[in-house]
Amino acid sequence: MAPPPPLTPSLILILLATFLTAAAACPPADLAALQTFKSALTDPYLGLFDTWTGSNCSAYFGVSCDPATARVTEINLRGESEDPILTKAGRTSGYMTGTISPAICKLDQLTTLIIADWKGLSGQIPDCVSSLSNLRVLDLVGNSLSGQIPSQIGNLDRLAVLNLADNRISGGIPESISKLESLKHLDLSNNQISGRIPNDFGNLKMLSRALLGRNQLAGPVPNSMSNMYRLADLDVSMNQISGGLPGWLGDLPVLSTLNLDSNAIGGDIPAKLLGSRGLGIMNLSRNALEGEIPDAFGPESYFMVLDLSYNNLKGKLPGSLSSAAYVGHLDFSHNHLCGSIPAGEPFEKFDSASFGFNDCLCGNPLSTC
Ligand SMILES: *[C@@H]1O[C@H](CO)[C@@H](O)[C@H](O)[C@H]1NC(C)=O
Ligand SMILES: *[C@@H]1O[C@H](CO)[C@@H](O)[C@H](O)[C@H]1NC(C)=O
Repeated sequence: MAPPPPLTPSLILILLATFLTAAAACPPADLAALQTFKSALTDPYLGLFDTWTGSNCSAYFGVSCDPATARVTEINLRGESEDPILTKAGRTSGYMTGTISPAICKLDQLTTLIIADWKGLSGQIPDCVSSLSNLRVLDLVGNSLSGQIPSQIGNLDRLAVLNLADNRISGGIPESISKLESLKHLDLSNNQISGRIPNDFGNLKMLSRALLGRNQLAGPVPNSMSNMYRLADLDVSMNQISGGLPGWLGDLPVLSTLNLDSNAIGGDIPAKLLGSRGLGIMNLSRNALEGEIPDAFGPESYFMVLDLSYNNLKGKLPGSLSSAAYVGHLDFSHNHLCGSIPAGEPFEKFDSASFGFNDCLCGNPLSTC
């Protein structure tokens, strides 16, 4: 047997280089999936994909890989970022057309899929994304995606962020969504989503922000949501939500923003809701709320926004509002309120726009009684 060749310094270098290249090379299946994904997109301005060549996919713009396995773990393509690639091209926002290829689903180690704010991206969200079981962030905001939310989205049990806002998505919110037990941030705003908020929506125990505004949702706010003890921000504005305003909204321990404006919510405003301590922004404008405004404010009331305009509220103004720690913006206009506007804080700092178009409110800043 011939003795092994001596390890000359140049041979060591060659071996080292081979090893490094091997470590950096993405598996051919991932490379192929990236190329198919790229070929379904057209980027007319930025040359985003100029770096998407060769076998080192860590060097591809917007792609990250696992250092040990070289599998693709992140795709992060944002059109509204401060990214130098935008500033260099003299653009403040991105534009891209094309579709999201189902080839993306072959990248089964993906934890993050962000293809955000490209405006022109159309077609459907591939159903197979619900098989990307490592996915933690799915952010496709600000495109022109249509079709429905994949019905098996609930399989993504590690998903923490689901942002599909500002697209043209239609159909219902899939029932399976309530299985997303890691979900913290849900934004479906500004689409054409119809049907009801799923009955089991309250199973989303980790959810902190539920942004469902500007859709075509109907039916009630489901009672299961009374269990959502991490919910800080609930926005279902500009839909066709009906039924009453549940009193338990006032018991949600960290709820600070409640925007239910422009819906068809009727019945009384629960005293417990107005008296809720943490609530800082509440917009109930343009509903069918009736009865009197409960006299339930107190020294812990701190409202940046309190908008009850365009409802059917009657009776007099709640005197307890004078004891509120702070009210920044107040709108009680366009109701059927009557009686004199109390003197002093916080009433005195608002102008007539806050009180106008009622049945018989009077006193400063309206006409004297
Ligand atoms: C692969 O690309 C990454 C990111 O640009 C770089 O840090 C690394 O050195 C590259 N590996 C090789 C072998 O070129
Ligand atoms: C409350 O909602 C109404 C109707 O959707 C909107 O016009 C108004 O600007 C909102 N109020 C505030 C203070 O944002």
